[in-house]
Amino acid sequence: MPKALYIKTWGCQMNEYDSTRMVDVLAPLGYERTDRADGADLVILNTCHIREKAAEKLFSELGRLRPLQSAKQKAGGRMVVAVAGCVAQAEGEALQARAGNVDLVFGPQTYHRLPELLSRIDGTTRLVVDTEFPVESKFDRLPEEAVAPGVSAYLSVQEGCDKFCSFCVVPYTRGAEFSRPVAAVLAEAERLVARGAKEITLLGQNVNAFHGIGPDGRPWSLGRLIRHLAEHTGVLRLRYTTSHPLDVDEELVSAHRDVVQLMPFLHLPVQSGSDRVLAAMNRKHTADQYRCIIDTLRTARPDLALSSDFIVGFPGETDRDFAETLRLVDDVGFVQAYSFKYSPRPGTPAAALGRRQVPDAVKAERLVALQERLNAHQRAFNRACLGRRLPVLFDRFGRRPGQILGRSPAMQSVHVEAPETLLGHQMDVEIQTAHANSLGGVVVPKTALGAGGHQRLERVA
Ligand code: 5AD
Ligand code: SF4
Repeated sequence: MPKALYIKTWGCQMNEYDSTRMVDVLAPLGYERTDRADGADLVILNTCHIREKAAEKLFSELGRLRPLQSAKQKAGGRMVVAVAGCVAQAEGEALQARAGNVDLVFGPQTYHRLPELLSRIDGTTRLVVDTEFPVESKFDRLPEEAVAPGVSAYLSVQEGCDKFCSFCVVPYTRGAEFSRPVAAVLAEAERLVARGAKEITLLGQNVNAFHGIGPDGRPWSLGRLIRHLAEHTGVLRLRYTTSHPLDVDEELVSAHRDVVQLMPFLHLPVQSGSDRVLAAMNRKHTADQYRCIIDTLRTARPDLALSSDFIVGFPGETDRDFAETLRLVDDVGFVQAYSFKYSPRPGTPAAALGRRQVPDAVKAERLVALQERLNAHQRAFNRACLGRRLPVLFDRFGRRPGQILGRSPAMQSVHVEAPETLLGHQMDVEIQTAHANSLGGVVVPKTALGAGGHQRLERVA
């Protein structure tokens, strides 16, 4: 009898990748993933600690699991509940005091040890905890992927961060920067492509700080890795996320210029447009340096679409600082972005700036203003796509019957009415409708396409 495994994932793509790899680790023990917690033998909550709200979601979920655990017990079984990921790393044993119904706690660097950790759960209420940063790399211990990848797959190439932005928990939860060797990345990419992945997104908390050892025994940059993967795997599309502006180097810029498989889209968090705030955040660059980096990238790849992350209400942020952020948004013209109210994280330097915290009402007001501005740019970009032909890689079903969805090069969701046999294929789509968050269109039959039929998207905002 297979054992039912339910995993709920919050947070970044890195966590999604980890959840998939946990399934690989548990497959030899007879676990099969289900999409329902009800009746599961093992529930893993893979958590995020980046903002307070993210952590709170864990405790509501643990509350919801309690009756399911009792029901399973009444039926003569046991539902083991494990907390994984960044909250687990940060809180460790303290989780048990707050929730009470947790059996196992393990961090992002130890899930390769899951079989052994599970064997230590002994039927009592004793908590098993493993939040070490082991010397052995989990990547060397993980089994090969048991689960077939989707059309679009994640591949973790780098973890951790040495930048120490003053608001951020990542250096504490994920640890120091670490890059996988190029050979291991290449082997995993080849397996993903052989099993049907058409698009690979290279992941890392600070992915463009990648410096994995290459076959020549020297560290390779991300740009060089991208070139190598494009040449040696036959992958159709490559992406990478998340990057730091200071780690955009020449090899990465030239990869954007030369590598056709590298999609013309870049998520490059800036956080603020004010030099004062950037300095207090320990970002180590100014707003103009960011503008300069964007100019360099756009010179190399004129149709590069940009995305970013913003924090409003960082301690000490004034109206003037915030106005600088809006100015940067207008200067760059992001095609999409994520924005957050500053959330003090225990143990980070910014959380200690007690007196300078911005009132929540001000944060809320600034967030609305920023999101309005960002949405206006996104709508303008989407409207500018009307009438164009964009290559779309179809990767999922739409909400309506007969509808399938895919992604444009700039990550826009594109829906069409088309047979599901097109899933896994890239087709040109003539864009006919533009919405706030998506596009709609019709598939252009392959025969109607001339050579070089893809149009480059010029910057619009
Ligand atoms: N408060 C609010 N947002 C944060 N982020 C990271 N730490 C915090 C925090 N303490 C945001 C940043 C980062 C994204 C992943 O989350 O914008 O780029
Ligand atoms: Fe959240 Fe950061 Fe951990 Fe990802 S690495 S889950 S964003 S805290």
